[in-house]
Amino acid sequence: MIDRQTESTQAPLRVQQISRTFGELLAVRHFSITIKSGELLSLLGPNGAGKTTLIRMLTGILRPDQGEVILDDTSQPGRREISRRIGYCPQRIIVWMDLTCLEQLTFAGELYGLSHRDARSRAMELLEIFNLSPKKNALAKTLSGGMQRRLSVALAMVHKPAILVLDEPEAGLDPQSRVLIRNVLHSLCRSDNTAVVLSTHDMAEAELLSDRVAIMNRGMLLAEGTPEALIAENGSAYLVEMRLTTAVPADIERLTHALGRLGAKMVAKDNTIILDSDASGALVRPVRTIAAAENVAITELRHRKRTLEDVFLSLTAGSMGGVAK
Ligand SMILES: Nc1ncnc2c1ncn2[C@@H]1O[C@H](COP(=O)(O)OP(=O)(O)OP(=O)(O)O)[C@@H](O)[C@H]1O
Ligand SMILES: [Mg+2]
Repeated sequence: MIDRQTESTQAPLRVQQISRTFGELLAVRHFSITIKSGELLSLLGPNGAGKTTLIRMLTGILRPDQGEVILDDTSQPGRREISRRIGYCPQRIIVWMDLTCLEQLTFAGELYGLSHRDARSRAMELLEIFNLSPKKNALAKTLSGGMQRRLSVALAMVHKPAILVLDEPEAGLDPQSRVLIRNVLHSLCRSDNTAVVLSTHDMAEAELLSDRVAIMNRGMLLAEGTPEALIAENGSAYLVEMRLTTAVPADIERLTHALGRLGAKMVAKDNTIILDSDASGALVRPVRTIAAAENVAITELRHRKRTLEDVFLSLTAGSMGGVAK
């Protein structure tokens, strides 16, 4: 028998078959996903795939036209319950520009019911975590874009929510700040058992950071699983990637036709051809020989592991944005 208490602690947030339209556009359709405690889930999708729309429904800002949002076993929870349990960092930076970092984090804590003293101490802690202590008395409008982004992530965490939902938290950040955010989120999952959901376009980061990845396109969930499982399920573990000096379609067609003799699965896009390979890399030599025989110059030839980005590109190939109803 399933213990409901355990089930809800492990999966504090679920959406079932949610859909949302904007006029003629079906931005999210029949989307179901479970958010588990202590897990970092990355949401990947091209621009316009519906990530923000989905996130806005997860966080109660937008009502689904169909389907259910279930928070701790409560269907269609109220705003109060949502804001107590979920911290949300929107894609567009929203901070109080005319308050200092310390003032706004303290104020946000008070809005969540903390005493002034506790709110201030939590604010100081977050400033330290996000490397903003030197700017604690600076007005938000005087911060750099990356600092404002870090402040907006900190604001979502003021009340130590059980579920943290972040819409592109790394957008516009320098590499050090991306690592900082990644470490903060990672330790939140591991030490505090927080459920973290984030959308991102950074495939390498998602592969490294996520316990689970959901790939969406045109409002639909295309694939879901650990990065390793998604990579393993979508072709060989290794690839041979060749970049050509020519992008002339006739040259590429002639070469792909000749490479077909090798019997490896192949995709060609612009001046790049990618073939499924194995760990030995034995394919590299015949590929080079065939290219030379066809008189096609190679600028780069690499034997490498299949990455999450390869999976993403093959699943979302040739599409942009939502679909018309
Ligand atoms: N309020 C709205 N009114 C009309 N259309 C909207 C609205 N919000 C989103 N859309 C449309 O819904 C589709 C999905 O948009 P959404 O912002 O969810 O995509 P996204 O995956 O977050 O994209 P990005 O990676 O660019 O942030 C887009 O075609 C967008 O134009
Ligand atoms: Mg978005």
